[in-house]
Amino acid sequence: MRADCLIIAIDGPAGSGKSTVAKAVAQRLGINYLDTGALYRAIALWLDKRGVPPEESERLKEELKKLRVKIKGGKVYVNGCDVTEAIRSSRVDAIVSAYSALPTVRECLFSIQRAQVNCRGLVADGRDMGTVVFPEAQIKVFLTASPEERARRRWLESSDKGRLSYEEVLKGIRERDALDSGRSLSPLRTAPDACVIDTTRLSVDEVVDRIIDLVKLLKQNNGGAYG
Ligand code: DC
Repeated sequence: MRADCLIIAIDGPAGSGKSTVAKAVAQRLGINYLDTGALYRAIALWLDKRGVPPEESERLKEELKKLRVKIKGGKVYVNGCDVTEAIRSSRVDAIVSAYSALPTVRECLFSIQRAQVNCRGLVADGRDMGTVVFPEAQIKVFLTASPEERARRRWLESSDKGRLSYEEVLKGIRERDALDSGRSLSPLRTAPDACVIDTTRLSVDEVVDRIIDLVKLLKQNNGGAYG
């Protein structure tokens, strides 16, 4: 990986606006976007469908050896199956944190995530982008928002809106926050060198503009380069 490839790491809890913002930043800069939550969701969906619970570590290791997960053209595939829609269900919301806390799952995805960087640069969003996967990222952003606002956003975008109440989504968000922040491996943390942005009262464009300003500042300070 070249030292001057721009990497923007965006972390934050569920519903903080990471994916929307990261996608828009990547588009404005003309560089690639990586949704790492989608990779964890894809693995959770597949293992759940195969009847492999998180506790069955040996079986899970065997399944992971056979599993090929990739993101291409905005679609997510597991072993060649398009799971783009399926990974957004409330079932996956409920189970993904338990699978993503497992060392075998995180190890499996580490190199897949690192391999997404090319010399045009990358905007990656997740929970441990700035702390673990891309510690060398030149720009690190931690997005946050109140649990109520995050639940409202998730409920509005949920494919299960008819079946799930806002209160149920809020409960799920609080539970996932606790699991994602409380796990021992790669917990959700603000990197010490991250810029924290509270998105509760900001529009997507305002958040994107702030990140683009950080990129401009970085270039200015480096005489036009990112490294
Ligand atoms: O961003 P999301 O809600 O789609 O992420 C789904 C889950 O995946 C989230 O509950 C935690 C996990 N995850 C993770 O542990 N590490 C990442 N880099 C991205 C997501």
